[in-house]
Amino acid sequence: MTRLSVGIVALMCAGTVAVAQEKSSKVGNLLGTAAAVKTAVKGLNPDTVTDLQAAHNGESNASATYTAFAKKADKEGYKSVAALFRAASASEKIHAKAFAAVLKSGEVEAKAKLEKLDVKTTEENLKAAIAGETKEFKEIYPKAGAAATAKGDLTAAKAFKDALAAETKHAQLFSEASANLLTWRETGKAFLVCPTCGYTTDSGDTLKACPLCGVAREKFEVFK
Ligand SMILES: [Fe+2]
Ligand SMILES: [Fe+2]
Repeated sequence: MTRLSVGIVALMCAGTVAVAQEKSSKVGNLLGTAAAVKTAVKGLNPDTVTDLQAAHNGESNASATYTAFAKKADKEGYKSVAALFRAASASEKIHAKAFAAVLKSGEVEAKAKLEKLDVKTTEENLKAAIAGETKEFKEIYPKAGAAATAKGDLTAAKAFKDALAAETKHAQLFSEASANLLTWRETGKAFLVCPTCGYTTDSGDTLKACPLCGVAREKFEVFK
């Protein structure tokens, strides 16, 4: 081999190594980018985590409170109000689970601190329930949903939106019960809860599917 040939071979080898290194570097960048994207999808914004934990805590406490309110309503003879509280309790439990699932997707453990139950008369319990639901659907969930959307935490935003719709309906049903307490004592009302999103309704006769998530009416849990 002439000196020139050796030189050309050396240059070709160097070129091959350079191309290989470049490819290797590109693969490394791609892997790095993929890892970064994966982290970004998995990672929840810290503010979203705070809102999700507060929501999980609030829904867990609301579920326990409504179960106690249902027992009290049963004792006082308000059967339809008791059915509504049991339905709402089941709905809040579904929301608590949904918030816990979003937290888990971000590798965060959901934590709830159950407060001491504050059970009064059914009349007073309904007023407390209306106040709680109204605060949730007017302030807490619209704010949390908008913040999660702005931060790109869309699964969290969807969970806040589902809860907002259900809490709006809860407030409406509790208000109807509160305004017609004696009538509600006489009638045997039935309430349906969507097992997926917690949507709650008293329109079982006309309901075909969940207006929020599309689950078929047959899958709804009935409380009466
Ligand atoms: Fe609610
Ligand atoms: Fe639903």
